[in-house]
Amino acid sequence: TPPELIRNFCIIAHIDHGKSTLADRMLQLTGVVDSRAMRAQYLDRMDIERERGITIKSQAVRMPWESAGQTYALNMIDTPGHVDFTYEVSRSLAACEGAVLLVDAAQGIEAQTLANLYLAMENDLTIIPVLNKIDLPAAQPEKYAEELAKLIGGDPADCLRVSGKTGEGVEPLLDQIVAQIPHPVGDPDAPARAMIFDSVYDTYRGVVTYVRVVDGNLNPRERIVMMSTKATHELLEIGVISPEPVPSKGLGVGEVGYLITGVKDVRQSRVGDTVTNASKPAARDLGGYRDPKPMVFSGLYPIDGSDYPDLREALDKLKLNDAALVYEPETSAALGFGFRCGFLGLLHLEIVRERLEREFNLDLISTQPNVVYDVTLDDGREIHVTNPSEFPEGKIASVSEPIVRATILAPSEFVGAIMELCQQKRGQLRGMDYLSEDRVEMRYTLPLAEIVFDFFDQLKSRTRGYASLDYEPDGDQVADLVKVQILLQGESVDAFSAIVHKDKAYSYGVMMATKLKELIPRQQFEVPIQAAIGSRVIARENIRAIRKDVLAKCYGGDISRKRKLLEKQKEGKKRMKMVGRVEVPQEAFIAALSSD
Ligand code: GTP
Repeated sequence: TPPELIRNFCIIAHIDHGKSTLADRMLQLTGVVDSRAMRAQYLDRMDIERERGITIKSQAVRMPWESAGQTYALNMIDTPGHVDFTYEVSRSLAACEGAVLLVDAAQGIEAQTLANLYLAMENDLTIIPVLNKIDLPAAQPEKYAEELAKLIGGDPADCLRVSGKTGEGVEPLLDQIVAQIPHPVGDPDAPARAMIFDSVYDTYRGVVTYVRVVDGNLNPRERIVMMSTKATHELLEIGVISPEPVPSKGLGVGEVGYLITGVKDVRQSRVGDTVTNASKPAARDLGGYRDPKPMVFSGLYPIDGSDYPDLREALDKLKLNDAALVYEPETSAALGFGFRCGFLGLLHLEIVRERLEREFNLDLISTQPNVVYDVTLDDGREIHVTNPSEFPEGKIASVSEPIVRATILAPSEFVGAIMELCQQKRGQLRGMDYLSEDRVEMRYTLPLAEIVFDFFDQLKSRTRGYASLDYEPDGDQVADLVKVQILLQGESVDAFSAIVHKDKAYSYGVMMATKLKELIPRQQFEVPIQAAIGSRVIARENIRAIRKDVLAKCYGGDISRKRKLLEKQKEGKKRMKMVGRVEVPQEAFIAALSSD
């Protein structure tokens, strides 16, 4: 297809504003999927995505569309919908010339709408504002058209109105995509340069890589080079998705499609990388490549220690499809053998954990997630701490922690409550704008560690669910951080220690000590629970001793009954972990580590 007849676009929207439903309608109207084959949310393939209604992996579909007597090829590139995947979103956007900015006409602009809009603007995309769900009785298209026009400029009347559900307004939208979004421009005679915006592992075909060709051509059977690694591969297959993969004779300037080289690991085909011809390599890549950087770490342990080899195997498998997942073996005195895993963020953690439990049938304990700290010691050495147990004792010159730029959107009546929360969470207000008289956008910098803790739940509860949040990493910042250790009878329990701000050390210590006092059963002797910073104890609770003699109940009688009781007690002990002399039930660990 000549570039003049190609339009590359994506739909950007806040979660639940109807992106997938609209995409489904477009597939139907362009005849790519017929109504009978249509299942809701055709593009969201993973079960877990479907159940949670979130899109994790982007895909690209080519749709033919006739407008003003010409047949155009519309490439719709689906973007992942969550903060953890900002980099993937930015690469998907970089593969487009335009974006449909979709806003629920009953909700208005939300934090993700804005975050994605900013990303689209950074990529110089043409923005088409669209209000969705106009079939809803609660829709207020006039009001929100004003909001949108104020945000991106232009006339409220130019804001399109559609219903992804009924299909109303979707054909005019497709025409506007053709009319407003510029066609791709590139040099057809130059060495090929194609940007990878997604790569997905497929059990049967190996890694399927999604690319947008910027210059030149990619052809089947030729050798290609991944420019960041210099690795060469043979192009076994190249084609477009419409809606199933269709092999083609090659991809030229402006085209979007997939390629298969037989590699088995998405790490060999990285999002953001540039693909070029091995015979005629491009001198420069397209820029913008970034290694995925894990931001949040957590220990994953099998509840049943004998599942450890299965957990390792499951992680090895997941890794094939997830370039951002990192892990290494770890041993914990309390939890046994497990893995220290790094994730892009909390959702990523949750997704991986859930897949391990669901697809691989594992029961897991995950330790309280923590961010990565850079510790500078008195002698100038630097340590990269991904686990509280690695945090040095004393001799620390400074500690820095990752911070994020957060955008919070909420009805203006909640400004006070949000400010109070952000203050508690060590946030700094960077700016505030009224989108309309009753809706406000607040921009904060916040430590990622505070967000990882329970920020989102608190924000929701303080704003009765009305606030929305989006954030992206914004470097590191020095902070006054300490490690709080929890000791049972003088023994430190690694799984419970945490790195927290100095001002919060006390409340963390008290919270953990109180929790554990409730969770750990009384023993034959008194058990002190202490929270300490170094050798300084900051909180203390006691579990009082009991004397429990199971045999006493039996009045000497029947010996087999006594044996049975002893057996039973042994059974119970198996599920106990020993910390020094203290028996801690497995459930206590799980309960103490769960954040609620
Ligand atoms: P993510 O892909 O998870 O970001 O969500 P989404 O933006 O794709 O939302 P999705 O298409 O899953 O729609 C969210 C909810 O809104 C679903 O329950 C849809 O049925 C509903 N919905 C979507 N479009 C419309 C519409 O035009 N009218 C009405 N009434 N409901 C809609």
